[in-house]
Amino acid sequence: MPLLGRFKRQGQPIAMVTAYDATFARLVDEAGVDVVLVGDSLGMVMQGHPHTLEVTLDHMIYHARCVRRAVQRAHLVVDMPFMSYQVSPEQALVSAGRLIQEGGAEAVKLEGGARAETVRRIVSAGIPVMCHIGLTPQSVHEFGGFRVQARDEDTAEKLRQDALALQEAGAYSLVLEGIPAALARQVSESLVIPTIGIGAGVGCDGQVLVMQDLLGLNDQFRPRFVKRYAELAEVVRGAFAEFARDIRERRFPADEHSFFGEPATRAIGESGGGYGPST
Ligand code: KIV
Repeated sequence: MPLLGRFKRQGQPIAMVTAYDATFARLVDEAGVDVVLVGDSLGMVMQGHPHTLEVTLDHMIYHARCVRRAVQRAHLVVDMPFMSYQVSPEQALVSAGRLIQEGGAEAVKLEGGARAETVRRIVSAGIPVMCHIGLTPQSVHEFGGFRVQARDEDTAEKLRQDALALQEAGAYSLVLEGIPAALARQVSESLVIPTIGIGAGVGCDGQVLVMQDLLGLNDQFRPRFVKRYAELAEVVRGAFAEFARDIRERRFPADEHSFFGEPATRAIGESGGGYGPST
């Protein structure tokens, strides 16, 4: 993706946020975020699983289509879910093709360091590939949990080599997740392509957060790498509680929310949404 490469050359940090539906994707896009990622983290934040391993290619396509309809400006990347690319480079190409053709993705993201052949195969079809190394959530069982990776010199060196090999294979960008900040800075400085960090310190060329974490929508989850830019769990719970109270006390709907047989001059949702009865 030439745009992200230019950001790195110009020293302009890249902002990436996940989105999984049209409503939030529109807000992210309007806010001026550079990259929207339909992450397979949707397995956790949308589907309620403890990991991402149950997410299928069809799930990703469904959410990608929802997001695609709302994103007009930002670069749209969609995750390749577990077992949609591990079998062979040919399988990976077919899966990536579906995310582009059916999901409306502009690029795909896949996890793992030893993926040069797979990246080459997808890129050869004209599909931009973002790679993801370090704490790769699809390998949670191999890691024995969500743990910071590459903490000793051997694993750090392996990560450096993987990063170079993925760049050489044609990846246009690299997510670095859950690794020491000094290592992430070294890797970022050694590459021409931009790195995007999550739990990898400020030395990356950009940063990504899962939307629900950034917005404080899950108040039971506060890992160190997350900065909350809002405390929406509290706000949303409060709104629902007030709604329920209003109904029980017959304060909603009030007259201004009701219809009294005026002539139907416009559709009901004209000033706002667009759903609900049309007369
Ligand atoms: O699935 C996801 O949301 C991700 C980001 C956290 C990088 O891969």
